[in-house]
Amino acid sequence: MKTSRIPGFYNLPPDERLNLVKEYADLTDEEVKALKDTGALPLEQADRMVENVIGVIQLPLGIAVNFLINGRDYLIPMAIEEPSVIAAASNAARLARESGGFQAQSMESIMIGQIQVTGLRDPYRARFSVLMEEERIIEEANRRDPVLVAHGGGVKRVTARVIPGVHKPMLLVELHVDCRDAMGANIVNTMAEAVAPIIEEATGGDVLLRIVSNLCVERLARASVTIKKDVIGGEEVVDGIVEAYMLAASDIYRCATHNKGVMNGIIAVALATGNDTRALEAGAHSYAALHGSYKPLTVWEKTVEGDLAGTIELPIAVGVIGGATAVHPIAKISRKILKVKTARELAEVMAAVGLAQNLAALRALVTEGIQRGHMKLHARNIAAMAGAEGPLIDEIARRMVEEGNIRIDRAKELLQSLKGS
Ligand code: MEV
Repeated sequence: MKTSRIPGFYNLPPDERLNLVKEYADLTDEEVKALKDTGALPLEQADRMVENVIGVIQLPLGIAVNFLINGRDYLIPMAIEEPSVIAAASNAARLARESGGFQAQSMESIMIGQIQVTGLRDPYRARFSVLMEEERIIEEANRRDPVLVAHGGGVKRVTARVIPGVHKPMLLVELHVDCRDAMGANIVNTMAEAVAPIIEEATGGDVLLRIVSNLCVERLARASVTIKKDVIGGEEVVDGIVEAYMLAASDIYRCATHNKGVMNGIIAVALATGNDTRALEAGAHSYAALHGSYKPLTVWEKTVEGDLAGTIELPIAVGVIGGATAVHPIAKISRKILKVKTARELAEVMAAVGLAQNLAALRALVTEGIQRGHMKLHARNIAAMAGAEGPLIDEIARRMVEEGNIRIDRAKELLQSLKGS
Protein backbone atom coordinates (compact mmCIF):
# COMPACT_ATOMS: atom_id res chain seq x y z
CA MET A 1 0.00 0.00 0.00
CA LYS A 2 1.47 3.36 -1.03
CA THR A 3 1.27 6.13 1.53
CA SER A 4 1.86 9.86 1.45
CA ARG A 5 3.02 9.72 5.05
CA ILE A 6 6.77 9.92 4.61
CA PRO A 7 8.55 10.89 7.85
CA GLY A 8 11.82 12.72 7.28
CA PHE A 9 11.10 13.48 3.61
CA TYR A 10 12.19 17.02 4.36
CA ASN A 11 15.64 15.89 5.46
CA LEU A 12 16.42 13.75 2.44
CA PRO A 13 18.55 15.04 -0.41
CA PRO A 14 16.54 15.85 -3.58
CA ASP A 15 17.75 12.70 -5.35
CA GLU A 16 16.41 10.44 -2.63
CA ARG A 17 13.13 12.32 -2.48
CA LEU A 18 12.86 11.87 -6.21
CA ASN A 19 13.45 8.14 -5.89
CA LEU A 20 10.61 7.87 -3.39
CA VAL A 21 8.28 9.83 -5.64
CA LYS A 22 9.39 7.76 -8.61
CA GLU A 23 8.35 4.63 -6.84
CA TYR A 24 5.14 6.13 -5.52
CA ALA A 25 3.97 7.45 -8.89
CA ASP A 26 5.62 4.82 -11.13
CA LEU A 27 7.65 7.48 -12.91
CA THR A 28 9.66 6.28 -15.88
CA ASP A 29 13.41 6.89 -16.21
CA GLU A 30 12.58 9.47 -18.88
CA GLU A 31 10.29 11.34 -16.52
CA VAL A 32 12.90 11.30 -13.79
CA LYS A 33 15.43 12.63 -16.26
CA ALA A 34 13.06 15.48 -17.17
CA LEU A 35 12.72 16.41 -13.51
CA LYS A 36 16.47 16.37 -13.07
CA ASP A 37 17.05 18.64 -16.03
CA THR A 38 16.76 21.90 -14.11
CA GLY A 39 18.20 24.25 -16.71
CA ALA A 40 19.56 27.51 -15.37
CA LEU A 41 18.35 26.90 -11.83
CA PRO A 42 20.66 24.29 -10.28
CA LEU A 43 18.89 21.72 -8.12
CA GLU A 44 20.95 22.68 -5.05
CA GLN A 45 19.78 26.26 -5.43
CA ALA A 46 16.14 25.25 -5.88
CA ASP A 47 16.56 23.06 -2.80
CA ARG A 48 17.55 26.14 -0.80
CA MET A 49 14.60 28.17 -2.07
CA VAL A 50 11.74 25.94 -0.94
CA GLU A 51 11.20 22.66 0.91
CA ASN A 52 10.97 19.07 -0.32
CA VAL A 53 12.39 19.87 -3.76
CA ILE A 54 12.57 17.11 -6.40
CA GLY A 55 13.04 19.19 -9.53
CA VAL A 56 12.20 22.37 -11.36
CA ILE A 57 9.31 23.27 -13.65
CA GLN A 58 10.17 25.46 -16.59
CA LEU A 59 7.98 27.97 -18.40
CA PRO A 60 8.51 29.77 -21.66
CA LEU A 61 10.17 33.16 -21.23
CA GLY A 62 9.32 35.61 -24.00
CA ILE A 63 10.04 39.26 -24.65
CA ALA A 64 7.32 41.80 -25.27
CA VAL A 65 8.67 44.47 -27.59
CA ASN A 66 7.71 48.05 -28.51
CA PHE A 67 7.25 49.36 -24.97
CA LEU A 68 7.87 53.06 -24.45
CA ILE A 69 7.22 54.10 -20.84
CA ASN A 70 7.90 57.61 -19.58
CA GLY A 71 9.90 58.18 -22.74
CA ARG A 72 12.19 55.17 -22.16
CA ASP A 73 12.35 52.03 -24.23
CA TYR A 74 11.84 48.71 -22.47
CA LEU A 75 12.10 45.10 -23.53
CA ILE A 76 9.76 43.22 -21.21
CA PRO A 77 10.57 39.64 -20.14
CA MET A 78 7.39 37.66 -19.58
CA ALA A 79 7.14 34.10 -18.25
CA ILE A 80 3.81 32.50 -19.08
CA GLU A 81 2.28 29.27 -20.31
CA GLU A 82 -0.56 30.92 -22.23
CA PRO A 83 -0.23 31.60 -25.96
CA SER A 84 -0.93 35.08 -27.40
CA VAL A 85 -0.28 37.07 -24.23
CA ILE A 86 3.20 38.25 -25.20
CA ALA A 87 2.18 38.99 -28.79
CA ALA A 88 -0.85 40.91 -27.55
CA ALA A 89 1.22 43.04 -25.17
CA SER A 90 3.70 43.81 -27.94
CA ASN A 91 0.89 44.81 -30.32
CA ALA A 92 -0.75 47.10 -27.81
CA ALA A 93 2.63 48.67 -27.03
CA ARG A 94 3.14 49.28 -30.76
CA LEU A 95 -0.19 51.15 -30.94
CA ALA A 96 0.65 53.12 -27.80
CA ARG A 97 4.04 54.06 -29.19
CA GLU A 98 2.46 56.06 -31.97
CA SER A 99 1.16 58.55 -29.44
CA GLY A 100 4.18 58.66 -27.16
CA GLY A 101 3.77 55.38 -25.30
CA PHE A 102 2.76 55.00 -21.67
CA GLN A 103 3.06 57.41 -18.80
CA ALA A 104 3.53 55.77 -15.44
CA GLN A 105 4.09 56.76 -11.84
CA SER A 106 4.02 55.17 -8.43
CA MET A 107 3.75 55.86 -4.73
CA GLU A 108 6.55 55.07 -2.31
CA SER A 109 7.09 51.42 -1.44
CA ILE A 110 5.01 51.51 1.73
CA MET A 111 3.71 48.22 3.08
CA ILE A 112 1.37 47.84 6.03
CA GLY A 113 2.09 45.43 8.87
CA GLN A 114 -0.92 44.53 11.00
CA ILE A 115 -0.88 43.69 14.67
CA GLN A 116 -4.15 42.37 16.11
CA VAL A 117 -4.84 43.08 19.76
CA THR A 118 -7.63 41.22 21.56
CA GLY A 119 -8.89 40.97 25.13
CA LEU A 120 -9.38 44.70 25.56
CA ARG A 121 -11.91 46.20 27.95
CA ASP A 122 -11.40 49.72 26.71
CA PRO A 123 -10.16 49.56 23.11
CA TYR A 124 -10.21 53.32 22.56
CA ARG A 125 -8.05 53.96 25.55
CA ALA A 126 -5.76 51.16 24.36
CA ARG A 127 -5.59 52.82 20.94
CA PHE A 128 -4.55 56.07 22.53
CA SER A 129 -1.89 54.34 24.59
CA VAL A 130 -0.42 52.70 21.49
CA LEU A 131 -0.28 56.00 19.64
CA MET A 132 1.47 57.56 22.64
CA GLU A 133 4.18 54.93 22.14
CA GLU A 134 4.60 55.61 18.42
CA GLU A 135 8.19 56.74 18.73
CA ARG A 136 9.23 53.72 20.78
CA ILE A 137 7.46 51.36 18.40
CA ILE A 138 9.15 52.93 15.38
CA GLU A 139 12.53 52.76 17.06
CA GLU A 140 12.13 49.13 18.07
CA ALA A 141 10.93 48.12 14.60
CA ASN A 142 13.64 50.01 12.78
CA ARG A 143 16.34 48.39 14.91
CA ARG A 144 15.51 45.17 13.02
CA ASP A 145 16.72 46.55 9.72
CA PRO A 146 19.41 49.22 9.99
CA VAL A 147 20.38 48.71 6.33
CA LEU A 148 16.85 49.57 5.20
CA VAL A 149 16.84 52.59 7.48
CA ALA A 150 20.22 53.71 6.11
CA HIS A 151 18.63 53.61 2.64
CA GLY A 152 15.83 55.90 3.76
CA GLY A 153 13.35 53.13 4.56
CA GLY A 154 11.81 51.77 7.74
CA VAL A 155 8.63 52.45 9.70
CA LYS A 156 7.28 55.88 8.86
CA ARG A 157 4.12 55.92 11.01
CA VAL A 158 1.98 53.90 13.30
CA THR A 159 -1.78 54.00 13.10
CA ALA A 160 -4.45 52.12 15.02
CA ARG A 161 -8.09 51.30 14.39
CA VAL A 162 -10.77 49.86 16.64
CA ILE A 163 -12.66 47.23 14.69
CA PRO A 164 -15.47 44.81 15.56
CA GLY A 165 -14.59 41.39 16.94
CA VAL A 166 -16.87 38.42 17.63
CA HIS A 167 -17.55 39.35 21.26
CA LYS A 168 -15.64 42.54 21.92
CA PRO A 169 -14.03 45.15 19.69
CA MET A 170 -10.41 44.57 18.75
CA LEU A 171 -7.56 46.93 18.10
CA LEU A 172 -5.64 46.76 14.86
CA VAL A 173 -2.29 48.49 15.07
CA GLU A 174 -0.65 49.17 11.71
CA LEU A 175 2.99 49.84 10.91
CA HIS A 176 3.54 51.75 7.68
CA VAL A 177 6.92 50.62 6.45
CA ASP A 178 8.84 52.04 3.53
CA CYS A 179 10.47 48.95 2.03
CA ARG A 180 12.40 50.83 -0.69
CA ASP A 181 13.59 48.29 -3.28
CA ALA A 182 12.45 45.14 -1.48
CA MET A 183 9.03 43.57 -1.79
CA GLY A 184 9.09 43.81 1.96
CA ALA A 185 6.84 41.09 3.38
CA ASN A 186 9.70 39.59 5.38
CA ILE A 187 10.88 42.93 6.69
CA VAL A 188 7.37 43.92 7.74
CA ASN A 189 6.60 40.59 9.40
CA THR A 190 9.83 40.76 11.38
CA MET A 191 9.02 44.29 12.52
CA ALA A 192 5.42 43.44 13.44
CA GLU A 193 6.64 40.57 15.60
CA ALA A 194 9.33 42.70 17.19
CA VAL A 195 6.98 45.43 18.43
CA ALA A 196 4.24 43.13 19.72
CA PRO A 197 5.53 43.17 23.35
CA ILE A 198 5.49 46.98 23.43
CA ILE A 199 1.90 46.92 22.19
CA GLU A 200 0.85 44.34 24.76
CA GLU A 201 2.48 46.40 27.47
CA ALA A 202 0.81 49.60 26.32
CA THR A 203 -2.67 48.12 25.92
CA GLY A 204 -2.83 45.35 28.50
CA GLY A 205 -4.34 43.23 25.72
CA ASP A 206 -3.14 40.12 23.89
CA VAL A 207 -1.43 40.36 20.54
CA LEU A 208 -2.55 37.64 18.15
CA LEU A 209 -1.69 38.08 14.46
CA ARG A 210 1.42 39.97 13.38
CA ILE A 211 1.54 39.98 9.60
CA VAL A 212 1.86 42.08 6.46
CA SER A 213 -1.26 43.12 4.54
CA ASN A 214 -1.21 42.41 0.83
CA LEU A 215 -3.70 45.19 0.25
CA CYS A 216 -0.96 47.79 0.04
CA VAL A 217 -2.97 50.91 -0.73
CA GLU A 218 0.06 53.05 -0.04
CA ARG A 219 2.04 51.31 -2.73
CA LEU A 220 -0.04 52.00 -5.83
CA ALA A 221 1.35 52.06 -9.33
CA ARG A 222 -0.44 53.84 -12.15
CA ALA A 223 -0.15 54.11 -15.89
CA SER A 224 -1.97 55.93 -18.62
CA VAL A 225 -2.10 55.76 -22.39
CA THR A 226 -3.91 57.54 -25.21
CA ILE A 227 -4.42 55.82 -28.53
CA LYS A 228 -5.41 57.82 -31.58
CA LYS A 229 -8.71 56.62 -33.00
CA ASP A 230 -7.19 55.99 -36.45
CA VAL A 231 -4.45 53.89 -34.93
CA ILE A 232 -6.87 51.66 -33.04
CA GLY A 233 -9.14 51.12 -36.03
CA GLY A 234 -11.58 54.03 -35.94
CA GLU A 235 -14.09 55.61 -33.65
CA GLU A 236 -16.25 52.49 -33.61
CA VAL A 237 -13.46 50.53 -31.99
CA VAL A 238 -12.97 53.33 -29.44
CA ASP A 239 -16.69 53.22 -28.61
CA GLY A 240 -16.59 49.44 -28.44
CA ILE A 241 -13.72 49.43 -25.96
CA VAL A 242 -15.47 52.01 -23.77
CA GLU A 243 -18.63 49.86 -23.86
CA ALA A 244 -16.58 46.79 -23.01
CA TYR A 245 -15.12 48.61 -20.03
CA MET A 246 -18.63 49.65 -18.97
CA LEU A 247 -19.68 46.02 -18.99
CA ALA A 248 -16.83 45.15 -16.62
CA ALA A 249 -17.76 48.11 -14.42
CA SER A 250 -21.38 46.91 -14.22
CA ASP A 251 -21.03 43.14 -14.07
CA ILE A 252 -18.77 41.24 -11.71
CA TYR A 253 -18.66 38.14 -13.93
CA ARG A 254 -17.21 40.12 -16.79
CA CYS A 255 -15.08 42.16 -14.39
CA ALA A 256 -13.30 39.03 -13.14
CA THR A 257 -12.20 38.23 -16.69
CA HIS A 258 -11.36 41.85 -17.50
CA ASN A 259 -9.03 41.92 -14.50
CA LYS A 260 -7.70 38.46 -15.31
CA GLY A 261 -6.51 39.87 -18.63
CA VAL A 262 -4.76 42.73 -16.82
CA MET A 263 -3.04 40.23 -14.53
CA ASN A 264 -1.92 38.11 -17.51
CA GLY A 265 0.64 40.81 -18.19
CA ILE A 266 1.52 41.76 -14.65
CA ILE A 267 1.99 38.20 -13.41
CA ALA A 268 4.09 37.22 -16.42
CA VAL A 269 6.56 40.01 -15.60
CA ALA A 270 6.43 39.07 -11.91
CA LEU A 271 7.30 35.46 -12.69
CA ALA A 272 10.10 36.47 -15.02
CA THR A 273 11.62 38.68 -12.34
CA GLY A 274 11.18 36.24 -9.45
CA ASN A 275 8.48 38.23 -7.66
CA ASP A 276 5.63 36.96 -5.50
CA THR A 277 2.70 36.49 -7.87
CA ARG A 278 0.18 35.55 -5.16
CA ALA A 279 0.86 38.77 -3.27
CA LEU A 280 0.19 40.71 -6.46
CA GLU A 281 -3.05 38.87 -7.18
CA ALA A 282 -4.26 39.31 -3.60
CA GLY A 283 -3.41 43.00 -3.68
CA ALA A 284 -4.96 43.62 -7.08
CA HIS A 285 -8.26 41.88 -6.45
CA SER A 286 -8.76 43.22 -2.94
CA TYR A 287 -7.99 46.70 -4.28
CA ALA A 288 -10.55 46.15 -7.03
CA ALA A 289 -13.12 45.46 -4.29
CA LEU A 290 -11.95 48.19 -1.92
CA HIS A 291 -15.19 50.15 -1.97
CA GLY A 292 -17.49 47.20 -1.48
CA SER A 293 -18.07 46.06 -5.04
CA TYR A 294 -15.54 44.49 -7.37
CA LYS A 295 -14.39 46.93 -10.07
CA PRO A 296 -12.14 46.94 -13.13
CA LEU A 297 -8.50 47.80 -12.47
CA THR A 298 -8.46 49.87 -15.66
CA VAL A 299 -10.71 52.61 -16.98
CA TRP A 300 -11.30 53.40 -20.69
CA GLU A 301 -12.67 56.73 -21.84
CA LYS A 302 -13.19 58.59 -25.08
CA THR A 303 -11.43 61.96 -25.33
CA VAL A 304 -12.94 65.08 -26.93
CA GLU A 305 -10.92 64.28 -30.03
CA GLY A 306 -12.57 60.85 -30.17
CA ASP A 307 -9.38 59.04 -29.15
CA LEU A 308 -9.12 56.28 -26.57
CA ALA A 309 -7.71 57.09 -23.12
CA GLY A 310 -6.88 54.33 -20.67
CA THR A 311 -5.65 54.38 -17.10
CA ILE A 312 -4.75 51.72 -14.57
CA GLU A 313 -4.17 51.90 -10.84
CA LEU A 314 -3.41 49.03 -8.51
CA PRO A 315 -1.11 48.04 -5.66
CA ILE A 316 2.12 46.53 -6.97
CA ALA A 317 4.42 45.17 -4.30
CA VAL A 318 7.54 43.99 -6.08
CA GLY A 319 11.21 44.03 -5.29
CA VAL A 320 14.47 44.22 -7.18
CA ILE A 321 16.46 42.99 -4.19
CA GLY A 322 15.95 40.07 -1.85
CA GLY A 323 14.07 36.79 -2.19
CA ALA A 324 14.02 34.97 -5.51
CA THR A 325 14.78 38.22 -7.35
CA ALA A 326 18.27 37.98 -5.92
CA VAL A 327 18.99 34.26 -6.31
CA HIS A 328 17.13 32.96 -9.34
CA PRO A 329 19.57 33.23 -12.25
CA ILE A 330 16.83 33.84 -14.82
CA ALA A 331 15.15 36.47 -12.62
CA LYS A 332 18.46 38.30 -12.47
CA ILE A 333 18.83 38.15 -16.24
CA SER A 334 15.24 39.35 -16.71
CA ARG A 335 16.02 42.37 -14.58
CA LYS A 336 19.10 43.06 -16.62
CA ILE A 337 17.02 42.96 -19.81
CA LEU A 338 14.44 45.29 -18.25
CA LYS A 339 17.16 47.65 -17.05
CA VAL A 340 15.02 48.72 -14.11
CA LYS A 341 16.94 50.28 -11.26
CA THR A 342 14.32 50.43 -8.51
CA ALA A 343 11.28 48.54 -7.26
CA ARG A 344 9.13 51.55 -8.10
CA GLU A 345 10.34 51.63 -11.68
CA LEU A 346 9.56 47.92 -11.98
CA ALA A 347 6.08 48.51 -10.56
CA GLU A 348 5.49 51.31 -13.07
CA VAL A 349 6.57 49.09 -15.94
CA MET A 350 4.24 46.36 -14.70
CA ALA A 351 1.32 48.78 -14.50
CA ALA A 352 1.95 49.78 -18.11
CA VAL A 353 2.13 46.13 -19.17
CA GLY A 354 -1.17 45.43 -17.38
CA LEU A 355 -2.79 48.33 -19.20
CA ALA A 356 -1.36 47.20 -22.55
CA GLN A 357 -2.57 43.65 -21.96
CA ASN A 358 -6.08 44.86 -21.18
CA LEU A 359 -6.09 47.12 -24.23
CA ALA A 360 -5.06 44.25 -26.49
CA ALA A 361 -7.73 41.95 -25.07
CA LEU A 362 -10.52 44.53 -25.35
CA ARG A 363 -9.52 45.49 -28.87
CA ALA A 364 -9.59 41.87 -29.98
CA LEU A 365 -12.88 41.25 -28.16
CA VAL A 366 -14.68 44.18 -29.79
CA THR A 367 -13.32 43.41 -33.26
CA GLU A 368 -12.35 39.96 -34.51
CA GLY A 369 -12.79 38.10 -31.21
CA ILE A 370 -10.10 36.54 -29.12
CA GLN A 371 -9.83 33.15 -30.78
CA ARG A 372 -8.25 34.14 -34.06
CA GLY A 373 -5.03 35.24 -32.39
CA HIS A 374 -4.93 32.05 -30.35
CA MET A 375 -5.52 29.85 -33.36
CA LYS A 376 -2.24 30.48 -35.13
CA LEU A 377 -0.13 29.31 -32.21
CA HIS A 378 -2.54 26.52 -31.48
CA ALA A 379 -2.32 25.39 -35.11
CA ARG A 380 1.48 25.36 -34.96
CA ASN A 381 1.30 23.18 -31.86
CA ILE A 382 -1.07 20.77 -33.57
CA ALA A 383 1.13 20.65 -36.66
CA ALA A 384 4.17 19.83 -34.53
CA MET A 385 2.19 17.18 -32.63
CA ALA A 386 1.28 15.62 -35.99
CA GLY A 387 4.99 15.19 -36.66
CA ALA A 388 5.71 18.23 -38.85
CA GLU A 389 9.15 19.78 -38.60
CA GLY A 390 10.88 22.99 -39.73
CA PRO A 391 9.04 25.07 -42.34
CA LEU A 392 6.33 22.41 -42.67
CA ILE A 393 4.99 23.44 -39.25
CA ASP A 394 4.17 26.95 -40.43
CA GLU A 395 2.83 25.78 -43.78
CA ILE A 396 0.47 23.22 -42.24
CA ALA A 397 -0.61 25.68 -39.55
CA ARG A 398 -1.34 28.32 -42.18
CA ARG A 399 -3.47 25.93 -44.20
CA MET A 400 -5.41 24.71 -41.18
CA VAL A 401 -6.15 28.28 -40.02
CA GLU A 402 -7.27 29.15 -43.56
CA GLU A 403 -9.57 26.14 -43.64
CA GLY A 404 -10.81 26.86 -40.13
CA ASN A 405 -10.08 23.23 -39.38
CA ILE A 406 -7.37 22.85 -36.76
CA ARG A 407 -7.26 19.18 -35.90
CA ILE A 408 -4.56 16.62 -35.52
CA ASP A 409 -6.02 14.29 -38.17
CA ARG A 410 -6.12 17.14 -40.68
CA ALA A 411 -2.55 18.09 -39.77
CA LYS A 412 -1.47 14.51 -40.44
CA GLU A 413 -3.23 14.48 -43.81
CA LEU A 414 -1.61 17.75 -44.83
CA LEU A 415 1.76 16.46 -43.67
CA GLN A 416 1.38 13.34 -45.82
CA SER A 417 0.41 15.26 -48.89
CA LEU A 418 3.07 17.94 -48.46
CA LYS A 419 5.74 15.29 -47.92
CA GLY A 420 4.46 13.47 -50.98
CA SER A 421 4.78 16.52 -53.17
C1 MEV B 1 -7.48 35.49 -21.49
O1 MEV B 1 -6.40 34.96 -20.78
C2 MEV B 1 -7.74 36.92 -21.07
C3 MEV B 1 -9.00 37.55 -21.68
O2 MEV B 1 -10.12 36.73 -21.42
C4 MEV B 1 -9.15 38.90 -21.02
C5 MEV B 1 -10.45 39.57 -21.33
O3 MEV B 1 -11.45 38.91 -21.66
O4 MEV B 1 -10.48 40.82 -21.22
C6 MEV B 1 -8.87 37.67 -23.15
